[in-house]
Parts: sequence; C-alpha cells; structure tokens
Amino acid sequence: MADTLTITDNRTGKTYELPIADGTIKALDLRKIKLSDDDFGLMTYDPAFMNTASCRSSITFIDGDKGILEYRGYPIEQLAEKSTYLETAFLLLYGHLPSKDELSAWQRDVTYHTILNEKMKGVLDAFRYDAHPMGKLIASVATLGTFYPEAANIFDAQCREKQIRRLIAKMITVAAFGYRHMVGMPYAYPDNDLSYPGNFLNMMYKTTEVKYTPNPVLERALDVLFILHADHEQNCSTNAMRAVGSSHVDPYSAVAAACAALYGPLHGGANEAVLEMLREIGSINNVPGFIQKVKSGEGGRLMGFGHRVYKNYDPRARIIKKVAYDVFEVTGKSPLLDIALELERIALEDDYFVKRKLYPNVDFYSGLIYEAMRFPSPMFTVLFAIGRTSGWLAQWVEMLNDPDQKIARPRQIFTGPERRDYVPIEQR
Ligand code: CMC
Repeated sequence: MADTLTITDNRTGKTYELPIADGTIKALDLRKIKLSDDDFGLMTYDPAFMNTASCRSSITFIDGDKGILEYRGYPIEQLAEKSTYLETAFLLLYGHLPSKDELSAWQRDVTYHTILNEKMKGVLDAFRYDAHPMGKLIASVATLGTFYPEAANIFDAQCREKQIRRLIAKMITVAAFGYRHMVGMPYAYPDNDLSYPGNFLNMMYKTTEVKYTPNPVLERALDVLFILHADHEQNCSTNAMRAVGSSHVDPYSAVAAACAALYGPLHGGANEAVLEMLREIGSINNVPGFIQKVKSGEGGRLMGFGHRVYKNYDPRARIIKKVAYDVFEVTGKSPLLDIALELERIALEDDYFVKRKLYPNVDFYSGLIYEAMRFPSPMFTVLFAIGRTSGWLAQWVEMLNDPDQKIARPRQIFTGPERRDYVPIEQR
C-alpha cells in the first residue's frame, strides 16, 4: 500500500501523486496542479482552519470524539489530581515532569519574578475605574515588554528562558493589580512564601492583615483551574500567539495578542457570558423557555455548551464540576448552580443539543466557581489567561524551533472588482 494520494484533475485529465505523511498532504503540493504553466496552481479554501494542520506539535493531544486531553502524554485527569500548575507549566514547556531539583529551581525563579516595576501602576491609572480587566491585562502585558527590550532577542535561548519566567510570574501580579484598580483598593504586593495560586489570592484579597493566608481548598481549586486551562493545542488564542510570534516580535507583544484573542465571547469570554446568561434566566422555572428560545435562534447560543473539537464531552468540564462542589463546601452554594444543573439536564436530553453533539464545555462551571471565590465576572477571562500563558509560551518556543515555520501568511480567494481606472470626483 503506497502512502500517496492520486488526484486526477478533470479539467486537464492529468494525474498527480502526492505523498501522505501523518494523515496529511502538504497543501503546497497541490500547487503543482495547474491548468497551464502560468497558472498559480491549486489552493485549498479553509476558512477558520476547519481541516488544516498549521504546525507539528508535541505538546497537547486531543481526541475530540473520545473526550481525551493529554499534556505531553499525561492525561488531564491525572495532572488535575496530582500535579500543580507550576509543575504542569514546566511539563508543557520542557516536555518532561521536573525532577525535585528542577521543580524547586523553577518554582523559585517564577516566584522571584512576580514583582512589577512601579511604573506599571501608571498604566492602570490611565484607565477609567470601570475599564474591563481584560483590556487592562492586554495593555499591561504589552507595556511590560517595553521594560525588557532585551526580550526582542528571541533566538537567544537564555534570554528567552528569562522572559518565560517573567511572563508566567508577572501574569498573576498584573491580573491582581487590574482587579485592585477596578475596586479602588491599594495594590497588594507579592508574598514569596506563598504558592503561585496562593500568592495570586493574596494580591487579590489581602486587606489590612500582616500576612494573608489563603484557604487551602480555594487555593487548590484555583491551581486545578489553572492546570485545566494551561493548554489546548491550536485554539484561537494559541493560533494568535503563533501567528503574531511568527513575525519574530517579542513574547510580551505576542502574549498580549493572545490575550486579545482570548477576550472574545466565543473563546475565553464564554465563562463570563455563562454567568450573565444564568443571571438572565433568573430561576429554574424559566429554563425550558430559555432553551426554547436558543433552539428557535431568538435567544442566542447556550453559552458554555459546544466545542469545535470535543463532540462527545469536554473532559475538563467533568473535573471542574467536581471542583465546584469542593469550593461550594467552603463558600456555600451559588444560587445559580440549580439553574445551571437544570439547564444541563434538559440540554443533555434535548434532541437539538444531542443531534449537534453539544455538551457542557470547560466554561460552563468555571464561572460558578470563580463567582463563589468572589471574583467579579469580568475577571473570569483574566483567570483563563493566567493559566493559558504557559501553554502559549510552550507553543511559541516550539514554533520558533520548528524549521518548517515561516511568518504566518494565509492566501485568499480574491472576490473584488477587476482592475479599473480611477474616476475623478466630478465624474462619479
Ligand atoms: N448553543 C446553541 N447552539 C449551538 C451552540 C450553543 N452553544 N454551539 C453550536 N451550536 C449549533 C450551531 O448553531 C450549529 O447549528 P446548525 O447546524 O443548525 O447551524 C451547530 O451547533 C454547529 O455549530 P458551529 O458554530 O458550526 O460549531 P463550532 O465548532 O464552529 O463552534 C463554539 C464552537 C464553541 C464556538 C460554539 O459551540 C459556541 O459558540 N459555543 C458557545 C460559546 C462557548 O461556550 N465557548 C467556549 C468554548 S470552550 C473554551 C474555549 O476553548 O475558549
């Protein structure tokens, strides 16, 4: 059996044999298929990259039909149960679980980079009190890059390593400062005795106490949520990270671009939209009417349902549902939980959702957890961004080291007017 694809071009009667590798053909091989010598050659048309592999990657494996998610071969369920976010970030970046020494050095490095230059406060001062924290995050991350001009040396491995540590470390500080700016509280500085999620909670919620002690259940829940969000192969924001990074810009600018992609309601903004939706539904009695409206197309989409790749279930949703119950033990149950459960129950039985393979995704319950932990809903996407930063950076490094990659530059099918002459304004 030959690993090739034979194509007959019925326009010319010519036959071509293209190699198949890893279940793909090279789109560039199609360019040999031409009507004449001066023909550009055949292209594929694939808006939204529905069936195009844009890279080779050894970081995250997803089998959407079977509901499998693995980071560097390790099932997400095991990482969520046994690992920490920082250990998982190391795994994503370096491909193996760290040894004891590697882990303690890594934790130390990330912890010691959490402090921000004081001038960063001026960036936040420029924002109105009610500015969305994602807008502040995007601006802050881009601004951070200007403090480290050496970050432009993206092919200097040592320099790159430093920026990776800085970015993962400062993400929690920038995020927490954005929150404190929103609520008008003085900024709380990092406490290097605390874990990564504990330190974030400290910078979010510390008031007048000398030392902030995070609740261990909430600290662990946040760590698990960061693990679940750490990477998801070629999603919209990772694609943005790679595409922007492919111009060889510094990683702060590329992460800012990835944050912007994440901001949208179809991506990282969905968990905020889920809470808004649950609040709008208001009571269990209104759930059937709401589902009806979604089905008829009047009510928009059922936020937190559906996924481009998971067509069976989202394994992260299952883990998150369990975490939600752990958190509610500490915080008390969210009044919106009953609405969410009823919505899920009806949707999972309803033909409309079953036929389209629409299941709860990672965002369906994460918003409820965040709300119970007192995060205001505009902060939800920021929390997603914190977790995803390690994945973005791992994918960025992989892209830079991949000899197949060049500046990302898709083709188009031009549908505009044919060449025409400029008409002076008096003659139009
Ligand atoms: N509610 C109602 N109908 C839906 C939904 C939904 N949430 N999602 C998809 N559909 C319908 C859609 O209308 C279409 O129906 P039809 O065939 O009759 O036109 C069909 O299902 C296929 O939808 P699609 O838009 O082709 O699917 P997609 O793979 O392009 O979209 C999605 C994936 C996640 C953008 C979409 O399911 C969605 O908008 N979900 C709600 C937003 C959300 O929860 N996003 C978070 C995703 S998980 C976190 C992340 O990765 O960021």
